[in-house]
Amino acid sequence: MEIGSFKDMFVAELQELASVEGQLADALLRMAGAASHPALKRLLVYHRAETETQRERLMTILEKHGADPVAHVDQAMQALVTETMKMLAMLRTDDLRDAGLIASAQKIEHYEIAAYGTAAALAGQLDLRDEQKMLHLSLQEEKRVDVLLTKLAKGEVNPDALAA
Ligand SMILES: [Fe+2]
Repeated sequence: MEIGSFKDMFVAELQELASVEGQLADALLRMAGAASHPALKRLLVYHRAETETQRERLMTILEKHGADPVAHVDQAMQALVTETMKMLAMLRTDDLRDAGLIASAQKIEHYEIAAYGTAAALAGQLDLRDEQKMLHLSLQEEKRVDVLLTKLAKGEVNPDALAA
């Protein structure tokens, strides 16, 4: 596929993001299932619901542009999910698994923060203010969950894993 306009590049970024959120919804279900600390499990389940909402936002925007929502598979996300599952399988205790889950989830969140930051900026340059707002909302949600993961890691999960 060739892309010849800024707008089409924006749409392609959104198609990648739709793939990211779809893959993450599945992965978060498995990650929440593997989590032991109740607060971590709750956060992963909560973010899965947010992930579904974020995917819906992307679908709404893509529909507006008449774009196929399943045109791209994001291979970077596939790799991040594969690494997450690989690490999960190696960690031998519940506490270590929780610490590893947070490490993996934060790598994924940082990837999403980068992607939404870019997508929102592109929408702004195209003067698509409503779309920029929707993408910014998702960006804020990703940033918030990243902060909550850091809090959980520092306050509870990593100290437990270290003491085990
Ligand atoms: Fe997300």
